[in-house]
Amino acid sequence: MEIKMLDLTKIFVSKDKREVHAVDHVDLTIPSGKLIGLLGPSGCGKSTTLYLLAGLLRQTQGQIYFGEDEVSDMPPEKRGIGLVFQNYALYPHMTVRENILFPLENLKVEKEEAKKRTIEMAQLVGLGEMLDRKPKELSGGQQQRVAIARALVKKPRVLLLDEPLSNLDARLRLQTREEIKRIQRETKITTVFVTHDQEEAMSISDEIVVMKDGVIQQMGEPQHVYDHPQNLFVAQFLGTPQINVFNGVVKNKKIYVNDMFISKTTLEDQTVKVGVRPEGFIVDLEKKSEFKFEIDLVETIGRDTTLIIEVPGNEGGLLDKITFKAIVDASLKIKAGDWVHFNIKPEKMYLFDLEGKLLK
Ligand SMILES: Nc1ncnc2c1ncn2[C@@H]1O[C@H](COP(=O)(O)OP(=O)(O)OP(=O)(O)O)[C@@H](O)[C@H]1O
Ligand SMILES: [Mg+2]
Repeated sequence: MEIKMLDLTKIFVSKDKREVHAVDHVDLTIPSGKLIGLLGPSGCGKSTTLYLLAGLLRQTQGQIYFGEDEVSDMPPEKRGIGLVFQNYALYPHMTVRENILFPLENLKVEKEEAKKRTIEMAQLVGLGEMLDRKPKELSGGQQQRVAIARALVKKPRVLLLDEPLSNLDARLRLQTREEIKRIQRETKITTVFVTHDQEEAMSISDEIVVMKDGVIQQMGEPQHVYDHPQNLFVAQFLGTPQINVFNGVVKNKKIYVNDMFISKTTLEDQTVKVGVRPEGFIVDLEKKSEFKFEIDLVETIGRDTTLIIEVPGNEGGLLDKITFKAIVDASLKIKAGDWVHFNIKPEKMYLFDLEGKLLK
């Protein structure tokens, strides 16, 4: 079921009459059968978007469609949605079976059918053997899978997940996210997965939507958005370590950082932000490159070495002091105090204007 949001806007008015544009003129189409990761920093409007889709909040402006069906004014129970929250409280006194079955009791589904679907859902989430346990006899990840089964048992048209893994420890988080991916693939239910964790969104999603201040910044396949960010915010939000950002200048078709030549460009003379992914540095063993730094710290983990470099700002104030990270091959045996010359892989470098817009 395709989800379409047209000019979707939610304005909250606080007690002192200030307006918060939590969701700001969002036009977004979520393709049928896909798992979409809705991603952005705290307060950017992810949950509000989800609650608008669910009907738990009423939009200030705009429309929502599920397929051809406009649901903008429909109450939540009519929309055909399954919802899973961060702490989706299960009923502690009920067994897994009773918890999963519960939503069907209000729907007047025939008893035998309800039982059958409950077992199917428990099997789908890998809890077929645990139907008679109580929630407290399950791990956090298993409890969250019960919540997912309970959300799916009504055969919703869309599945909405709001930070469903946040309460799990690192290992369970990984396992449960693989499980969600599998369940989504098997059921092919259109799913919106909200998270502020970029790595989680990148790994689980068919497409990610990056949001900031209620506004969609970019949508696309995770790797594509990582490789082709449309602005500095998106570039900085995706990837660990973060993309490095240098203040640079373009002069006579050449880009300089701290007066060191970096590369050629076709851009006109101007001040720019130069973004370089940590994996975009090549150590120039012949030491021909002008772009050189003294290494402050070296961290080696497995086959990668991270070089950490403090660049002092210049006195005119044009260049900020920055710390940047370069990931290089551990076999180079670089030590703190070494001077290293770098070349930059062109496909790992991005130029932005001072507002953060990508310069073509
Ligand atoms: N009921 C409300 N009344 C007033 N302002 C609200 C209300 N709910 C949310 N907001 C504001 O709307 C903005 C978006 O909030 P939202 O909960 O959607 O963010 P989020 O992206 O889910 O953040 P998080 O990652 O912290 O969960 C925030 O500035 C928040 O303070
Ligand atoms: Mg939220």
